[in-house]
Amino acid sequence: MSQAAEKSDQATALEKNMKEIVALCKRRGFIYQASEIYGGINGFWDYGPLGTELKNNLRDWWWRKMVLCPPIGPDGTPVDIVGLDSAIIQNPKVWVASGHVGGFADPMVDCKETKLRYRADHLIVFTPKDGQGSSIAVQEGDDFEESKARRFKKFAGKKTDADFEKRALSDIAFSEFANIIGPDASKPGTLTEPKAFNLLFETKIGAVASDDNVAYLRGETAQGIFVNYKNVLDSSRVKVPFGIAQIGKAFRNEVNPRNFIFRSREFEQMEMEFFCHPKDAKMWFDFWKEERQKFWQEIGLTKGNLLMREHGHNELVFYSKGTFDIEYKFPFTDPGFGELEGIAYRTDYDLTQHQTHSGTKLEYIDQTTNERFLPHVIEPAAGLTRGVLALLCEAFTPDPSRPSGVYLNFHPRLAPKKAAILPLTAKDGHPEIATKLYLELREEFPVDLDIKQNIGKRYARQDEIGTPYCLTIDNDTLKDETITVRHRNSMKQERIGLSNAKEFIRKGLESAAQ
Ligand code: GAP
Repeated sequence: MSQAAEKSDQATALEKNMKEIVALCKRRGFIYQASEIYGGINGFWDYGPLGTELKNNLRDWWWRKMVLCPPIGPDGTPVDIVGLDSAIIQNPKVWVASGHVGGFADPMVDCKETKLRYRADHLIVFTPKDGQGSSIAVQEGDDFEESKARRFKKFAGKKTDADFEKRALSDIAFSEFANIIGPDASKPGTLTEPKAFNLLFETKIGAVASDDNVAYLRGETAQGIFVNYKNVLDSSRVKVPFGIAQIGKAFRNEVNPRNFIFRSREFEQMEMEFFCHPKDAKMWFDFWKEERQKFWQEIGLTKGNLLMREHGHNELVFYSKGTFDIEYKFPFTDPGFGELEGIAYRTDYDLTQHQTHSGTKLEYIDQTTNERFLPHVIEPAAGLTRGVLALLCEAFTPDPSRPSGVYLNFHPRLAPKKAAILPLTAKDGHPEIATKLYLELREEFPVDLDIKQNIGKRYARQDEIGTPYCLTIDNDTLKDETITVRHRNSMKQERIGLSNAKEFIRKGLESAAQ
C-alpha cells in the first residue's frame, strides 16, 4: 500500500472512531444534540444521565485537586485556593475592561456567492506549485478529508496533493484571494477580506429592549474571579500568594462550532487565577505548568496523547509574559493535537484594567512589610466539557473479541458507574441478595442494579458505559457468601467475599491510572 493510501486509511479509521464515539454517546446516554426533536441547534449539546455523571466526576476531581486538596507549593507549604461561583451576567463594563467587547474576535471571511461565513484560520488553501489554475480552499473539521477529495475531484484536474502548497487562509495576502475558490463556491474570487467578528453573546436586561440595557453572557469564567478579587481578600483569610477557582458555563458565539463538543457555543470551564508577588510569578508559572500536566495524567490521559506547547510570539496576547497549552491528541486532530487547557502568565493586566475602569483600588498591602503592589496572575484555564471529550476519546477501546465490540476504559474515579450488581438469574434468591448489596453500595458509590437479560448482554452494556467492575451473585453466593468480580479491561474474574465489596471498590477508586 502506498504511504498516501495508508495515511488516508488511517484518517478514515480515526474518523470512524469519532463517528463511533458520537454514536455510543447518544446510544448510551452520555451526550445528545440539544433540541434534537426540533432538528437540533448548532453548537449546543445536552448531557444525558451518564454524561452528567462523567462531567460531574471530572468537575469534582478538579475541585478536589484545586480547592479542597491543592498541591504543596514550591516552597514546601500548602497552596491556598478558595472557590467562587459568580453570576453569568455581570455589569457590561466588566467586558469592556477585560477587552472582550473591543477585541474578543475571530477573523471571518464571507463568501459572496454562497453567503456562507468561515473563520479565516480554519480555511486551508491548496495553491498549485506550478502557478497554473486556481487555489482550492477547504474548511477544517470532521469531514475535512471528504470535502478535500470532493473539491479536488472538481477543481484539481490531474494534479495531486504533492502538486499543491498548503497554507491557512489567514496567512495569505488579500491580493491573492482573487484566485482562491471558496470551500462551497463554484468559481474563484468570492471570498471577502477577513473582518473581526465578536464572539460575545449579547442579551438585553429588563422589560424595555434598548441599546442601553445590553449585557453579555460571560465569555469566560475568569472575569468573575477578577471582579471579586477584592471581595475575597476582604472577606476571607487568604494572603498573597493564593488562588480563586471557579467552574461554570461560558458562552462564545463560535463561527464554526465543530468536532462534536470540542468547540461549542455553550461549554464549561474550570479556571483558577493564582495571585502572587511579581517577583515570584515565574516560579508559580513553572509550578502550575507541572501540576496541571500531572492532573490530566492522573485521571487517565496517557502521556503520549498529551503535549505541552508554548505559544509563539505571533500567538501570544500582548499582556501575557508566556502561555503554554496542554494539548490532547483527539482522533480528529491526530497526528496533531488540540487545546485542552491553557496556562497563562497574565501579569497584572486584568487587575490593572479593572482598577482603571471601575475606579476601585485593587492593590494588595502586605501586612508584614507594608509593601503595596498589584499581584501578578498565573491562570490555568481548562475546558470541562473539552476534558469530557478527551476522557471519552481516551477511554474508547475497540475490542472485536467482545459482544459489545468496544469498552470504555475510564479510570474508576471518573467512571459514571463504579460497579454493576448482576444477579446471575432472576430467581433462586439471587435478586434479593443483589438488591440488598445494591442498597448498601449506593450509599457510597453510584452503582447499577441490572436484573434482566442474559449475563453476556448485561456485561456488554456495562463495558460500553465503562463500568470497571461487575459483581455477580450466583448459587455459590447462597452457600459461601462470595461473589464474582468481573474486571472490565481484562475480563478476568475473581471471587471475593460479599462483605468485602465496599472495600474492594474503594481500593479501585484509589488506584493509579492504568
Ligand atoms: N480565561 C482564559 C480562557 O478562557 P481559553 O483558551 O479561551 O482561555 C480555556 O479557554 C479553555 O476553555 C480552553 O483550553 C478549552 O478547553 C475551553 N474552551 C474554549 N473555548 C471553547 C469552546 N468554544 N468549546 C469548548 N471548550 C472551549
